[in-house]
Amino acid sequence: MKLILKPIPAGSFRIGDPAPLDLFDAQGKLLLARGQIVKASTFELLCARQIYVLEYECTTATKVQRFPTEIYRNILGFMQRIFYDASLVSPERLEQTMLTVENILRELGRQERTYISFNEFRTYDNNTYVHSVNVSLLATLIGQEMNFRGHELKLIACSGLLHDLGKLSVPLEILNKPSELTSTEFALVREHTLKGVDLLRQANAPLELVGAIRSHHERWEGHGYPQGLRQRAIPEIARIIAVADVFDALTADRPYRAGLPPYHVLEMIMAGAGVDFDPEVVMALWRCLILYPENSVVKLNTGEIGMVIAIPKNFPTRPLIRILFDRYGNYVSREETVDLLKDLTRFVISVDFQCVS
Ligand SMILES: [Fe+2]
Repeated sequence: MKLILKPIPAGSFRIGDPAPLDLFDAQGKLLLARGQIVKASTFELLCARQIYVLEYECTTATKVQRFPTEIYRNILGFMQRIFYDASLVSPERLEQTMLTVENILRELGRQERTYISFNEFRTYDNNTYVHSVNVSLLATLIGQEMNFRGHELKLIACSGLLHDLGKLSVPLEILNKPSELTSTEFALVREHTLKGVDLLRQANAPLELVGAIRSHHERWEGHGYPQGLRQRAIPEIARIIAVADVFDALTADRPYRAGLPPYHVLEMIMAGAGVDFDPEVVMALWRCLILYPENSVVKLNTGEIGMVIAIPKNFPTRPLIRILFDRYGNYVSREETVDLLKDLTRFVISVDFQCVS
């Protein structure tokens, strides 16, 4: 990534107004800082020459690739058709799901590392489909990290896509209820695991798939549902889906709370290793999840924008960041870095891969 000077037209600023951005000449000399009032005399000087603003441009080739948007949308469309009509869950539809799964595996296998933008496609009415696709992608990444290959990896991806199929039987007003559920409502929601099993059995789904859908809400120490299974009695694919499910669910906005930042959710899941989740699955998530790839541009909770320049080996949620723009949007020309490992008051709120041309 490099910083570039981008020319702007003279009409971008007016006498008496504050400068909209830091304004530079062709040599990169600061003429007027953002927020300073454009006086008549300054205006004349500015109009007499080409004025530039500073932007950043991605030039560094990185081995990390974003999961392709077009393929993501295709999978999403397929999931919407499945969820619209439960009767479509037939052996033929299951076969088509497996073909969709091959698309996922092909894309994930193409790149050395894949970054998934979990919140990019979420809207109120498609949350369940987006959630299913995200869980499938993340579970597959975890599965790859745990050395699952071939048919087993396909089953993991497919379980992710179909894990919440049983939610078709839960009324939307309960799923989207903005307040706490009553015990009766909660019991209805819990039933989605067994309703999903019924639907898959009708479609003659493989036993591993049925087991994963039934047990994806089981918890490592036995406090999950529907059977209260413990540790290795929980099917391994279900243990993977459980972690991917919770990661995506907590990062999403829900009617009753805003989504949590991904670094926060990862730390919560780490804390649940050996209690809620299989520690091996959690470690695989830790290794494969890309929160802030090096050279990516990120926004901090303080409003500052910076570039990730290093990620501590055992603390991927706390990168070292070179500040590019301060909280007011002014370019920071001096070398200023923030070590999130030491400064716990700052954290990344979004990742921006947009390149400026
Ligand atoms: Fe579920």
